[in-house]
Amino acid sequence: MFITFEGLDLSGKSTQAQRLLDRLQRAQYPAVLIREPGGTAIGEKVRTVLLDRTHDGMDPRTEFLLFSASRAQLVCEVIRPALAGGTVVISDRFFDSSSAYQGGGRGLPLEEIEVINRHATAGLKPDVTFLLDVPIPVLEARRRLSRPGVDRMEANDRTFYERVRKAYLDLAAREQRIVVLDGTASVEELEQHIWTMVAPALPELQKRV
Ligand code: TYD
Repeated sequence: MFITFEGLDLSGKSTQAQRLLDRLQRAQYPAVLIREPGGTAIGEKVRTVLLDRTHDGMDPRTEFLLFSASRAQLVCEVIRPALAGGTVVISDRFFDSSSAYQGGGRGLPLEEIEVINRHATAGLKPDVTFLLDVPIPVLEARRRLSRPGVDRMEANDRTFYERVRKAYLDLAAREQRIVVLDGTASVEELEQHIWTMVAPALPELQKRV
């Protein structure tokens, strides 16, 4: 089973991805957590290029192709082999991030993004995607309370994030696999909700817990 988490920066998706992994591991279910961009030696190098604040002249197409390159490597080196061996793969971001950030945020044509997404992943799609939706003012308040340093992507302005959020919600309206969750709910509530959706889809799990 291939599960992805999506949402804006500080939406809480990384916490939920980690909590789902912990639950599966406690049940001794084979599971791995990966992150995008990165997750492979090549992908981590690409990630450094993408997030470097000195690269402020990066063209949106360059940006998109670098994210896609990192993803292509991750799919063939990590995700496909893990799925083939029966491991649950949890990914903190996947190609919906490109549709939302490079499509909605940067304004690249969505049809073109979708073609390259399919190419980069050789047709692999998540079975389920949890989208943690949080209004922008709530995210801004979270940011003020958290780390002061920002990377190149996080240096975008409010209208950028409004566009990304809308693109995510538009995608969710089109794609049945995307489950929209209220990201302002408590960490525990969200964890429980996600678990009640994942556990029944893993029949063998019932025997283990
Ligand atoms: P990261 O520090 O991993 O952010 P987070 O922990 O919030 O996921 O940085 C990833 C950044 O890259 C984030 O701002 C979203 C952006 N991104 C895209 O724009 N397109 C993509 O396809 C992916 C995977 C990420």
